[in-house]
Amino acid sequence: MEKLPAILPGRRRKRPAHRGNRRVRAFLHGLPKVELHLHIEGTLEPELMFRLARRNGIVLPWRSVDAVRRAYVFQNLQSFLDLYYAGCSVLRREEDFYDLAWAYLARIAGQNVRHAEIFFDPQAHTGRGVPFGTIVAGIGRALDEGRRRLGISSALIMCFLRHLSSEAAMEALEQARPFQDRIVAVGLDSTEAGNPPERFRAVFERARAEGFRAVAHAGEEGPPEYIRQALDLLHVSRIDHGVRCIEDPGLVRRLAEEQVPLTVCPLSNVKLRVFPTMAEHNLKRLLDLGLCVTVNSDDPAYFGGYVEENFEAAREALGLTRDDIVRLARNAVRGSFLDDAGKERLLDELDAYVDRAGV
Ligand code: ADE
Ligand code: ZN
Repeated sequence: MEKLPAILPGRRRKRPAHRGNRRVRAFLHGLPKVELHLHIEGTLEPELMFRLARRNGIVLPWRSVDAVRRAYVFQNLQSFLDLYYAGCSVLRREEDFYDLAWAYLARIAGQNVRHAEIFFDPQAHTGRGVPFGTIVAGIGRALDEGRRRLGISSALIMCFLRHLSSEAAMEALEQARPFQDRIVAVGLDSTEAGNPPERFRAVFERARAEGFRAVAHAGEEGPPEYIRQALDLLHVSRIDHGVRCIEDPGLVRRLAEEQVPLTVCPLSNVKLRVFPTMAEHNLKRLLDLGLCVTVNSDDPAYFGGYVEENFEAAREALGLTRDDIVRLARNAVRGSFLDDAGKERLLDELDAYVDRAGV
């Protein structure tokens, strides 16, 4: 008689890898998520870009949606920003901003995102003659509807373009004044190298005095010193990207001690060649060093994935465990601008989900 393999009590047979993958993917999909680093202009999918261009009588430099997608090969941050600002040119009217933001919310509702803190770049639009109020009205209407119809809470963060002057940033802050009930924080984005946070010290000081919270992109392409400046001169609550902190062990220790949230964007970092491959990304290393790392999508229409795809790409390449994934998700709740009750509610929801999934 053929001898059956002994199955010892309590010892499980090994699950085939693809089945394990499927289970982790399902777990990731259902996980309640928070996104803290998302440029609304970076969610402009080529299909919508063409629709808005047609609606506004704008001729794009590409002949088709496929041609646009083929153009999305970037050497660095600047080569991306050149296309990103070209894409912005189709956003003119209130309904354009509404359609853009609504498309993003509808998409992330399918990824179980429960809360999103969303950047916008007012100067990329006011510089073309679009009134500040038009931008905020369109995005704001979509956010209200997202809250009501999709159960997604949200906050708006206005970013200053750091390739422009600090006087221009100050002017943007002035224009934001009537919309302060809509805007929770100020941020700093665009071309990082050569544009240190210290240039924007006064404008951040004014913004904080007026009640805005503060965040800043730092340590994406710029040196660790820019992260220190963002912390010490701009007094930011979190650092957007921050991955180059790894070059400065003292800074890494400080970020871990102070639990400064880093809004890391894995697909963006590979697309913009901050890391040559996802396998070389330092997200897992930073997490293992005890930093408050979060996973985000940055400009998903340009980088090939929304927040769930970012989690999945990092998980697959870096071997993130379920514990890692839960930690990343919890970090995002803690690092958000939700009030304590809001954080508590989301953390409870997360815990209940993890319990049900049986981690
Ligand atoms: N604006 C949009 N995406 C950006 C990024 N990844 N870095 C700096 N500025 C940006
Ligand atoms: Zn960004």
